[in-house]
Amino acid sequence: SWLVLLWCLAAYLVGSLATAIFVSRALGLPDPRQAGSHNPGATNVLRLGGRKAAALTLLGDLCKGLLPVLAARLAGLPAWAVALVALATFLGHLYPLYFGFRGGKGVATTLGILLAIAPLLGLATLATWLLVFAVSRVSSLAALSATVAAPAYAWFLLPQPSLRGLVLVLALWVLWRHRSNIQRLRSGEERAFRRRQ
Ligand code: G3P
Repeated sequence: SWLVLLWCLAAYLVGSLATAIFVSRALGLPDPRQAGSHNPGATNVLRLGGRKAAALTLLGDLCKGLLPVLAARLAGLPAWAVALVALATFLGHLYPLYFGFRGGKGVATTLGILLAIAPLLGLATLATWLLVFAVSRVSSLAALSATVAAPAYAWFLLPQPSLRGLVLVLALWVLWRHRSNIQRLRSGEERAFRRRQ
């Protein structure tokens, strides 16, 4: 219906707010699209600007997933419409209107979406990311592991087929966005972050 379309449009516009670019500008850091991995995401901001800037980026991108989906749920939209709103904010992050449709890889935004859909699903996925990162110190490997695990968790935790389908679509899209990371992982060129002293 028209109402759902409006919700999706609003979610897309919110998703298009690339936190990494705003945070980097505000803190006088290099443009994450021009330096490091060239990805406007929390990982690259961590590389270029340190932990405070990365935490802000992570929080902003996570909220972009969380808030529109939470709002849609609270407004009583049916599960299929909530799934579309989630997809819209995700696509906003990947293909932002304000930045030439060149956005991030969708990890933080997807985490926000999962937390809003079912907190346990979000927390299980976050725990997977944290565990793999703690062991490997490679952000993309942690993201890929969490992304593969999320649809499996969703299968057990979500009763609604539309939301299960959403998680699968998001996961496949996130994997696709990591294809350069996958190449680097396979060739052994993907860099790990230093262990904290
Ligand atoms: O979520 C993005 C992360 O998994 C990889 O980022 O900058 O290392 O390509 P980056």
